[in-house]
Amino acid sequence: MPDTLPPDQTPLEIEDIGSNPVPRETIGEIVERRLSRRAALLGLGGAAAAATLTDQLLAAAEPALAQGVVPMAGGPSTLTFQEIPHGMAQRDAVAPGYEIQTVIRWGDPVIGEAPSFDPAAQTPAAQAAQFGYNCDFLDFRPLPLGANGSDHGLLVVNHEYTDTQLMFAGIGAGRAGRMRATADQSRIELLAHGVSVVEVRRQDGRWSYVPNSRYNRRITGETEMRISGPAAGHDLLKTAGDPTGTRCLGTLNNCAGGNTPWGTVITSEENFNQYFSGAAAQTGAQAEAYRRYGIAQQGTYGWSRFIERFDLDRHPNEPNRFGWNVEFDPYDPNSVPVKRTAMGRFKHEGATHAISHDGRVVFYQGDDERFDYVYKFVTARPWNPNDRAANRDLLDEGTLFVARFHDDGRVEWLPLVHGQGPLTAANGFANQAEVLINTRRAADLLQATPMDRPEDVEANPATGRVYVMLTNNDRRTAQQVNRANPRAANTHGHVVEIIPPGAGTDRVDHAATEGRWAIFLMAGKPGTDVGARYHRATSEHGWLSCPDNCAFDSKGRLWISTDGMPSAAGVADGIWATDTQGAGRALTRQFYRAPTGAEVCGPCFTPDGRTLFLAIQHPGDDAGSTFERPSTRWPDFAEGVPPRPSVIAIVKRDGGEIGS
Ligand code: FEO
Ligand code: CA
Ligand code: CA
Ligand code: CA
Repeated sequence: MPDTLPPDQTPLEIEDIGSNPVPRETIGEIVERRLSRRAALLGLGGAAAAATLTDQLLAAAEPALAQGVVPMAGGPSTLTFQEIPHGMAQRDAVAPGYEIQTVIRWGDPVIGEAPSFDPAAQTPAAQAAQFGYNCDFLDFRPLPLGANGSDHGLLVVNHEYTDTQLMFAGIGAGRAGRMRATADQSRIELLAHGVSVVEVRRQDGRWSYVPNSRYNRRITGETEMRISGPAAGHDLLKTAGDPTGTRCLGTLNNCAGGNTPWGTVITSEENFNQYFSGAAAQTGAQAEAYRRYGIAQQGTYGWSRFIERFDLDRHPNEPNRFGWNVEFDPYDPNSVPVKRTAMGRFKHEGATHAISHDGRVVFYQGDDERFDYVYKFVTARPWNPNDRAANRDLLDEGTLFVARFHDDGRVEWLPLVHGQGPLTAANGFANQAEVLINTRRAADLLQATPMDRPEDVEANPATGRVYVMLTNNDRRTAQQVNRANPRAANTHGHVVEIIPPGAGTDRVDHAATEGRWAIFLMAGKPGTDVGARYHRATSEHGWLSCPDNCAFDSKGRLWISTDGMPSAAGVADGIWATDTQGAGRALTRQFYRAPTGAEVCGPCFTPDGRTLFLAIQHPGDDAGSTFERPSTRWPDFAEGVPPRPSVIAIVKRDGGEIGS
């Protein structure tokens, strides 16, 4: 979701609540931290020598940039594309020599008898069979299963949330507008959430999708799914519609996600709190638990007026069935998605995997809220590469850990296991199910490090190092800074690098309970924004703000998408790429620029590195922009057609590898 507009313009009010009351530190710690902030930025004792060298280089960056003497696209980067300038326009833009192809748009027919898109006559039945709204996470799964090709596959696409005012005529901006949505429109919105699976092909250099392919699928806010793992069947998950606490309807606010080595996909539920309303948020038996997740008396959406299960007063346990990771098999359109409770319940940005040296699979996860935490889930057993079915329920058994970033450069991973440490009945946790349903409270008690809104957390396959996108935290005070979050009023975010034991070898221990960390970059405009730090050769267009999603190319270079570049200053979101090692480390360069109002999500390379898929989310979501008068009509630019969140493919005109 964007995070820069006035609160009543977008569905943000609830996301904006920093609901972690914890930030606990002693005065001594605060003083020590403030004194050592400079040292933290300069490379953290035990971090690799390369990091220290880079940080020394970084230290020289600001004066050069402030004087504007650094040319565009200069410096020792291994990336060969010509950087594009910052800017803001109704159309998007990409580096010279590359081409943007629209693959699929909101409303395009996906399954069955789906009608073609008619924005003036949208119906629930049409939307249930059409591509959903606000695409986010993307995954490309080659076809057939087991292949590693790059011209034919399944595109798996999350649909995070809906912009009522851009979807329907006569709504208008803000919450008041959303409360104007009718019962039919509310159901259209529910059905525009979830996931799409579409078969895609590249033929004669052009990508397109296959309507009505036998693989195509819509998963929505109404799709029946299973709840599994330690919390399944717990009383807190039981409702009138599901007295077993093991089956639920739909998945909501699917932000980012991940995949597994056995070819399934994980779609992650983020700001699930926004859909529920009721006085119980203030007065009910679960009010305190609701508060920790930002569930409020007045939700962002008004769905509880028409869809009973979103009414907290009638169905107080319904929100407990959201906030999970959901695994499903994209190769089987009839597979039942499964909410994997062992991976914890919070506002999941995503869940990206790395295989540890012993074959156990580790899923790195961010909880996207101001002052919330970084997690990882480690499977109890190694995965089985020879028997896909043997991995079917691997995600039901394992250990969830939360990160504590120490000032000496160590990161400690603390297990969320019932009976260990403070996670006992005396503190209100009767069993592991309750630890998982109230993951945030359990992590509070373990004194995890409150972070600046963790978004994607992803391991670089080339080095084993892990990168944490921290998008921003404008509410951190000078008294609350710590070395991993060293900036007060952090409106631009930063990137933290975690170095697990064995990183750089072929035996990376992603399951280890300790590692090291360093600051990779501090976002913002060098020379203007306090604390912004990159490679000294970063150009005046190479800086970025609010890192959100990321991906690695085959050479281990980091591609970052943003959600919150300073639009008021005429700077749009986009994609920036950088080396993570060597002379070009932290030298970010702008590759793609989104249309006005949009954020860029889901960067995803095909296995051959020749296509980069991007999800362009909420185009035209600018202040005052409505269905009737949108700030852009991207990508159709047809009168009467509103902007349409879409997946695009970027290819090189000469057919070569992206960035090479
Ligand atoms: Fe949905 Fe954390 O962005
Ligand atoms: Ca988003
Ligand atoms: Ca975001
Ligand atoms: Ca995101």
